[in-house]
Amino acid sequence: MATIHILYHSVKGHTERMAETIAEGVQTVGGCSSRLIRVEDAMRQHVTGCQGLILGCPTYMGNVSASMKTFMDTVLSPIWLDGGIPGTVGSAFTSSGTLHGDKEFALLAMLVTMFQLGMTLVSLPPTIIRENQHLGYSHGVGVTTMNRQPGMISTEELAVARRLGKRVAEVTRQIHG
Ligand SMILES: Cc1cc2nc3c(=O)[nH]c(=O)nc-3n(C[C@H](O)[C@H](O)[C@H](O)COP(=O)(O)O)c2cc1C
Repeated sequence: MATIHILYHSVKGHTERMAETIAEGVQTVGGCSSRLIRVEDAMRQHVTGCQGLILGCPTYMGNVSASMKTFMDTVLSPIWLDGGIPGTVGSAFTSSGTLHGDKEFALLAMLVTMFQLGMTLVSLPPTIIRENQHLGYSHGVGVTTMNRQPGMISTEELAVARRLGKRVAEVTRQIHG
C-alpha cells in the first residue's frame, strides 16, 4: 500500500476543501491511501513515513502562508539536514482570493522546498490541463476563491484538484509499487 500524505494550511476552509478533493483523487487509485494533516499538527514522521507528499496553503502576499513557512523551517529543515526524502513523490496546491493573486509563486515556493528535499515532483501534463478546461498549472493546482464560501469552489476547479491527486497516486504506485 502506497501512502500519500496531504499536508495543508487553511484558515477559512478553501484550501482544506482542495485538500479533501485531492484526497478523493488519490483514493481512486488502487493500492493507495491518503491522509490529511494540518501543517500545525505535522511532525517529522508525517513527512518521512509516506511515499507521496502533497503540500498546500493559501497564497498570502504572493507567497506561502506563515504557517506553511514555519512548518518548512521547523519540520522540513531538519529532514533536509539529514539527507532529505529522495524518492518521495510530491506536488503542491494553493488558493488565492483574486484571479491571478500570484498563486504561482506560492506553488513554486513549495515546489522548490520539495526539490531541496530531493523529492520526485509530478507535473500535470498538457492532456490533463486540456481535459480540465485549461485549469491547473503544469506544476500544480491553484484555485480562485474570491469571497465565495469554501463549498462554492467551482466544480471545474475541484475536478483538476481531484485529477492532481489521482496523478500523484499513479506515479507513486509506479515508483513504489
Ligand atoms: C494575510 C493574507 C494575505 C493574502 N494575500 C493574498 C494574495 O497575495 N493574493 C490573493 O489573491 N489573495 C490573497 N489573500 C486571500 C487568500 O489567499 C484567500 O482568501 C484564500 O483562498 C484563503 O484560503 P483558506 O480559505 O484556505 O484560508 C490573502 C489573505 C490573507 C489573510
